[in-house]
Amino acid sequence: MKIAIAGYGVVGRGTHELLLMNRDKIAARAGEEIEVKYVLDPKPLEGTPAEQLRASGIEEILADPEVKLLVEAIGGVGPAYEYVKAALESGRSVVTPNKQLVAEKGAELLAIAREKNAGFLFEASVAGGTPVLHPISQCLWANDLDLAAGILNGTTNYILTKMVQEGAGFEETLREAQRLGYAEADPTADIEGTDACRKACILADLLFGKHTDPNKVFTQGITRITAADVEAAGLVGCNIKLIGQARRMADGKILCMVTPALLRKEHCMAEVNDVFNAVMVHGNGVGDVMFYGRGAGDLPTASAVLSDVIEIVRGGCRNAGIIGWTDEGDAHLADRRDY
Ligand code: HSE
Repeated sequence: MKIAIAGYGVVGRGTHELLLMNRDKIAARAGEEIEVKYVLDPKPLEGTPAEQLRASGIEEILADPEVKLLVEAIGGVGPAYEYVKAALESGRSVVTPNKQLVAEKGAELLAIAREKNAGFLFEASVAGGTPVLHPISQCLWANDLDLAAGILNGTTNYILTKMVQEGAGFEETLREAQRLGYAEADPTADIEGTDACRKACILADLLFGKHTDPNKVFTQGITRITAADVEAAGLVGCNIKLIGQARRMADGKILCMVTPALLRKEHCMAEVNDVFNAVMVHGNGVGDVMFYGRGAGDLPTASAVLSDVIEIVRGGCRNAGIIGWTDEGDAHLADRRDY
């Protein structure tokens, strides 16, 4: 199977590197060799594994019948949306870690994927390398699920952890998170909570089967958290964590929001540190289940992207068949002030 990668930043390049690193195992598991034929990115590719693979544009990729799958790792909506839509409309499958694209345009793109019998998978869009969407939609699907909540952004968790453990400053730790490839191209989305909001909306879409509009979700990031707040939290036996949640209330409305929260140190998420994410899901049969692992970074995110690629090459398009929010309209959102 020949694939193309659009966007050769932290995740695009990481995906290519992990594919080369685990080539034989991946081929054995996918049932055939997977090879990157094109890379689409305006940046210089010299000195990278993609040196000889530059595509002139999306048109060149979509004109090549050998290419059956696009990995979109550009981020944002804009060109990413155009390329993904064009690829799906041409009957090609798409794998993406792009939370903004899935949160805003997921319903429309899933509908196209279904119509064209193509795969559209996005496990890496929530919690990076930590499997969450597939386990929910496969292993927990027998439950009535009413809650998904947790630490959904690696950059802010890294910053809060360093503030607690090392007394580090906000700005210097943010720069370190950018250097490590955790932060978004524009880290405002991380620190203002927008990135966590998009992930909470994707979880809400999956759990409740209706579209949750990120623009309508109350979102507060960590920009107003000071060293004094972190210290005061410690004095009362708590850590501050940025928590995103999607919850069905007793009246059936969906409460979705992102806010910093005080967690008692005994709480199972209070010591989820550094770039790690944790997502708690509640179902009426299983009770509470927690997923924990790296939420950002090149190879962790590539792990989820490539696993989706393998699934499609093996012939499965499961998420495309499961998330049904296209058919049922928008979620009836609760106002957090009512609860
Ligand atoms: N900037 C994101 C984060 C990347 O820090 O969690 C993974 O979605």
